[in-house]
Amino acid sequence: MDDKVFEINSVSRLFGHVAVVDDLTLALGKGEVVGFLGTNGAGKTTTIKMLIGLLRPTSGTIRLFGGDPLDASTRRRIGYMPEIAYYYPFLNVRELLAFYGGICGMEKKLVRSRTDELLEEVGLVDAAKRPLKEYSKGMLQRAGIAQALLSDPDLLILDEPFTGLDPLARIHFRNLLKKLRDKGKSIFFSSHELGETELLCDNIAIMKKGRCIYQGPVKRLAGDGGGNLERLFLDVLEKGGAA
Ligand SMILES: Nc1ncnc2c1ncn2[C@@H]1O[C@H](COP(=O)(O)OP(=O)(O)O)[C@@H](O)[C@H]1O
Ligand SMILES: [Mg+2]
Repeated sequence: MDDKVFEINSVSRLFGHVAVVDDLTLALGKGEVVGFLGTNGAGKTTTIKMLIGLLRPTSGTIRLFGGDPLDASTRRRIGYMPEIAYYYPFLNVRELLAFYGGICGMEKKLVRSRTDELLEEVGLVDAAKRPLKEYSKGMLQRAGIAQALLSDPDLLILDEPFTGLDPLARIHFRNLLKKLRDKGKSIFFSSHELGETELLCDNIAIMKKGRCIYQGPVKRLAGDGGGNLERLFLDVLEKGGAA
């Protein structure tokens, strides 16, 4: 039990009569990095929203750090980056982080020092005084990454974190995630970027129409030579079942 960061047990979520997530069972071990793959509309974001307590499952159970996703003490240990972030447009990134630090109950001094570190880390030092409404998609993405990392969480849940990043930012972010992984953080991220997923993950899960059709090591799926997650991803999707 203790080595599980989260456990999703037979979870389904209906919208109307449609099971957008259908009997999903998935767990993340401590220090594990798992990529959550699948086509558009496969149920990844819905699963992530249930994980962080934004949505309730229609049936099944979810345990986060052995507790309920809605417990305040549980939520403090999680850094979450949404697929699409809606930030106050007139705040700058420092004000944004101060706002989130307040929500997390962090001390102001700590928020300031973490902000300095993180702006450096995500490459937003020069743009720190500009309002977020002037940010490009990639810059907003970087701000989102900084926000997710602010409280130095044990578990990072990232919904398509690579989308919108330029190649340099992508390499930088990949290295940042590797560093966090090496520090023992647990990371769960959805992505369409198979190359990034292959480089970062121990295990992957692949969703199709609400069902998890593959769970296992990324190496096994990619074959001995590696580097070809794409072919096998397509293969699993086509077969659409037994894994
Ligand atoms: N609030 C909602 N009400 C109705 N349908 C929804 C809602 N949220 C998501 N869906 C539907 O659920 C399906 C899965 O969506 P989503 O979890 O966002 O997929 P993914 O992140 O894998 O692209 C889609 O068909 C989407 O239209
Ligand atoms: Mg999504």
